[in-house]
Amino acid sequence: MAKAPTSRVDKLLSSMGYGSRTEIAHMARAGRISLDAVKIPDVTKRIPITPDLSHHMKIDREALDSVGPMVILLNKPAGMTCSHKEDGKLVYDLLPARWQRRVPMISTIGRLDKETTGLLLLTDDGALLHRVISPKHLVKKTYRAKLARPLDGTEGERFASGEFMLAGEDKPLAPALLEVVSETEALLTVTEGRYHQVRRMFAATGNHVMELHRERLGGLSLPDDMAPGQWKLLNEAEITLIFE
Ligand code: URA
Repeated sequence: MAKAPTSRVDKLLSSMGYGSRTEIAHMARAGRISLDAVKIPDVTKRIPITPDLSHHMKIDREALDSVGPMVILLNKPAGMTCSHKEDGKLVYDLLPARWQRRVPMISTIGRLDKETTGLLLLTDDGALLHRVISPKHLVKKTYRAKLARPLDGTEGERFASGEFMLAGEDKPLAPALLEVVSETEALLTVTEGRYHQVRRMFAATGNHVMELHRERLGGLSLPDDMAPGQWKLLNEAEITLIFE
C-alpha cells in the first residue's frame, strides 16, 4: 500500500484554519494538541496524513476536523448569499468559523439565489466541483416552485422541447421536466445551471416564482429532519449519489 503523505503539525493545522503557525505552536506548548492521547509539544514534528486522522488527533480534547477533501450538504435558508465577498449574511457563516480559513478553500458547488432555499453542496475538492457543474455530466436538479399565477398548461411541453429560449440568450435550454403539483405549484427538473434559470423560465411563460426550493441534486435529497441552516458532511456513498 502507498505510504501516506506527511506534514508538519503546524502547517497542517494552520491549513485547516486552527490558527497561524505561531498560534499553533503556542497551543502545542500549552498541551492542547494530542495524537493518540499523547501530547505533541513540538509542532515541527511530521505526521502521516491519513483519512482517519480525525479519529487520532485532538485539539482541546475535541476530534480534529476532517483533513479533507470535504463535501458538505446544507439546507440553505432564505436570505443568505452563496458568495465569499458580498455584504450581508453568507452561507459560509453557517459552518464552523475556522473552515473559512481552510486551504484549499471551501466553495459552493454552483449557487442558489439569495431567496432560494434547499439543497446546497459545498466542497474544497475542485475536481469534484467541476464534475458536478460541468454540462457534460447532466446532473439533474429538481426545484419546487410556488407561482404567483396558475399554470396555463403549456409549460410542460415548452420546457421539454429543447427549443425554449430565455430572454437575452441565443442558445435554447436543454429539455427540462415539469411535474405539476397544483395550479400554482410545480416541480421542475433541469440539467443546466444558467443564471436565475428557473425564475427566468417561468417569467418567460408570463408567470412569477414566489418561492423556490431545491429538493434534489442527482440522486441526493435533503434529509426530512434537516432544518434550514443545518448541514452535514457527506460520506463516499452519498457523494456517489450525486452522479446517479
Ligand atoms: N434557478 C433560479 O432561478 N434560482 C436558483 O437559485 C436556482 C435555479
